This record gives sequence, C-alpha cells and structure tokens, in this order.
Amino acid sequence: VAHEQLPADLHVEIVDWIDQLPWMNPDLEDDLPEAVIRWRELVREADALIIGLPEYNYGPSPLAKNAIDWITRPPHDRVITGKVIAFMSSAGRSGGANAQQGLSAFLPFLGAVVVTEPPVQFASIAEHLDADGHSTDAAIEASVTEAVASKLAAVVHALEQRDAPT
Ligand SMILES: Cc1cc2nc3c(=O)[nH]c(=O)nc-3n(C[C@H](O)[C@H](O)[C@H](O)COP(=O)(O)O)c2cc1C
Repeated sequence: VAHEQLPADLHVEIVDWIDQLPWMNPDLEDDLPEAVIRWRELVREADALIIGLPEYNYGPSPLAKNAIDWITRPPHDRVITGKVIAFMSSAGRSGGANAQQGLSAFLPFLGAVVVTEPPVQFASIAEHLDADGHSTDAAIEASVTEAVASKLAAVVHALEQRDAPT
C-alpha cells in the first residue's frame, strides 16, 4: 500500500520481482543474467531507493541483502554509489529495526547515503494486512500514509543536500 501514497509527479519504479535475481555468485558475472542487468540499470537511473523488507533472525532478509550485493559490483562501477537509500520494514516485534541497522552499517562504505530518520518500522501488523498490503484497520492505514509521507520528505531533503553546490 505504501507506493500508493507517493506523489504523482515522482517517477516511481516498483521492483516487485527482486526474487528473480539469482543468488550473488561472482561466477555469474562473466555472463550476467537478464534480471541482474535490468536491476542494475534501474538503479543506475534512480536518484533514490526505498527498500521495503522484513527482518529475519535479527538481520535483513536474504532477498534484500542479495539485491543490494548485486548493485555493489563491479567495484569500479558500483551503481549503488551516491544513491540515497531509505528503508521501510514490517516484521515481528522488532519492526525490522535490526534488519535496517544491519544494512545501514555497511552501505555508507559503498558510497550510499542512508536516510535513517524518521524510522519506518511496523511491528506485528502482518496479520492485519491483506495480500495487497491493505488493512481494514484505519489506524494502520493512517500510520502507513503518515510514515511514507515523512520518509519521502526526508529522502527529498537528502537528495537536495547531496546535490547542493558546496
Ligand atoms: C525465518 C524468519 C525469521 C524472522 N525473524 C524475525 C526477527 O528476528 N525479528 C522480527 O521482528 N521478526 C522476525 N520474523 C518475522 C518477519 O519479519 C515477518 O514479520 C513475518 O515473516 C511476516 O511477513 P509478511 O509480512 O511477509 O507476512 C521472522 C520471520 C521469519 C520467516
């Protein structure tokens, strides 16, 4: 439901096929799979990535880590470098805080700008959502709307700072 809250003048690509990426394996780099080429080109053209993810065992889901690993290669042409990255997670009791921290710990080393504030971490709401991510609980819908708006404002602010003349 989160992407429905984004303003119409923003060009948004929803990447809901991240599970089509093969597991990171440098042996595949000589003949890159089509999904990897597509993913890298989308990121290359993007200003910012808003990554929605769950938390698995106090860390990011392997699909999220895998998708990130693919855009950190090759080292001389990392498409992740310079991107503004924000997370939104839905998980169990943690809300995904550990998953976000795990990724935030290394992304700056790759030249990405991580927007940590305001944190968007939904704890134990999965059972209140339908398959499309909608909820009949008005309070949940309202808090997702508010969270997306404030996160987006922070991302836009980070982009302005990144692009401001020094
Ligand atoms: C293997 C596994 C480990 C998980 N570990 C955590 C965890 O450490 N912390 C947490 O808050 N939620 C954890 N969860 C819950 C998930 O983050 C998520 O809320 C749950 O799988 C519902 O996902 P859904 O929204 O895709 O239905 C775990 C789930 C799985 C399957």
